Amino acid sequence: MLRSYKGITPKLAEGVYVDESSILVGDINIGKDSSIWPLVAARGDVNYIKIGERTNVQDGSVLHLTRASESNPKGYPLIIGDDVTIGHKVMLHGCTLGNRILVGMGAIVMDNVTVEDDVIIGGGALIPPNKTLESGHLYVGSPAKKSRPLSADELAFLKVSAQNYVQLKDEYLEEGQ
Ligand SMILES: CC(C)(COP(=O)(O)OP(=O)(O)OC[C@H]1O[C@@H](n2cnc3c(N)ncnc32)[C@H](O)[C@@H]1OP(=O)(O)O)[C@@H](O)C(=O)NCCC(=O)NCCS
Repeated sequence: MLRSYKGITPKLAEGVYVDESSILVGDINIGKDSSIWPLVAARGDVNYIKIGERTNVQDGSVLHLTRASESNPKGYPLIIGDDVTIGHKVMLHGCTLGNRILVGMGAIVMDNVTVEDDVIIGGGALIPPNKTLESGHLYVGSPAKKSRPLSADELAFLKVSAQNYVQLKDEYLEEGQ
C-alpha cells in the first residue's frame, strides 16, 4: 500500500515489487528491480528514504528516520544502496548502507550508522548509533563487534543473494501478486 504524506507519494522505478500487505508512506524512492516483502512498514515522513537497485527488504522489516533539528540540521534519512539484502524483521533507523550488504534477520541498525560496501551483519545484531562498519567484514552480537573478514565465497554470495530476490520478485510479478 502506497500512502501520501504532505503531498509526497512513494516513487517506484521500473520492475519494483511491493507486496500489498506492506505500507510505504511519503518520501520514499525505490530503484529498479528492488522488492518489498509482506508486512514491511516504511515511513518517509520526517525525512526521506532512498533504496537503490536490486535491493530486497524482507518480511516484517521496519524502516524509519530522524527529523532535522537545531543540533542536527539534516536529521538522519535512511539510505540503502544497490544489491542489498535486508533479512526478515530487521529494524533500520536513520542509517546509511552501501552496496552488496546482508543485514541478518532481526538485526537493529540505529541512527547515523554507516555500513560500507560488502558487509554482513549477523542475525540479531545491534549496531548502536554513529558506528561505521568496515568494508569486507562480518559483524555479530549485541552490541555488534567486528568478527572476521568475509571469505571470497561470502563476498560473492552478497551479489547472488540480491539476484535471487530479483528472480523471486519477477516470479511474483508474473503471477500477478
Ligand atoms: C553471521 C553468520 C553469517 C555467521 O555464520 P558462520 O559462518 O556460521 O559464522 P562463524 O563460523 O564465523 O561463527 C563464529 C562465531 O559466531 C557465532 N555466531 C554465528 N552467527 C552469529 C550471530 N548471528 N550472532 C552472534 N553470534 C553468531 C558462531 O556460533 C561462532 O561462535 P563460536 O566460535 O563460539 O562457535 C550467520 O550466523 C548469520 O547470522 N547469517 C544471517 C542470515 C540471514 O539472516 N539472512 C537473511 C535472511 S534470508
